Amino acid sequence: MNRIDHILDHPLFRERLARLEALEADRAFCRHDLSHLLDVARLMWIWVLEEDLPVSRETVYAAALLHDLGRADQLERGIPHEEAGAELALKILPEVGFTENACEEIRDAILGHRRSGAAARSPLGELLYRADKACRPCWHCPASAACNWPDEMKNTGITR
Ligand SMILES: [Fe+2]
Ligand SMILES: [Fe+2]
Repeated sequence: MNRIDHILDHPLFRERLARLEALEADRAFCRHDLSHLLDVARLMWIWVLEEDLPVSRETVYAAALLHDLGRADQLERGIPHEEAGAELALKILPEVGFTENACEEIRDAILGHRRSGAAARSPLGELLYRADKACRPCWHCPASAACNWPDEMKNTGITR
């Protein structure tokens, strides 16, 4: 089994994602389910290929799959999800075989994924931030008018 499938199969990943999907079952706005995590991963990987960036496919998928995993902790306990997610990543990644350097790179990308213009963002962190926003089909969203994203941030079509 490769390291990405190991993440998908990890008990902590499965438990947190199931909890989050239950918590967001009636959410009108964007959800943070497996489809979102895969949308982010695939968009990031397209950009790595298009822009010839020095980031591995496994690192891209690991960061994308784990970036919102802390949302159940945010909804239930008020912990910012980038912090809860970074902590979960540091539990899961070493167990599925990522090196210490890769774990730190992915943790930092998760920690910065909500902050626009975060200082010293790594190539991985920049990709994660961009893909997380760009993957949302705002132009097709029935809840768009009530969404708290400013209009200038909402995606108006497929531009990437
Ligand atoms: Fe997030
Ligand atoms: Fe996200």
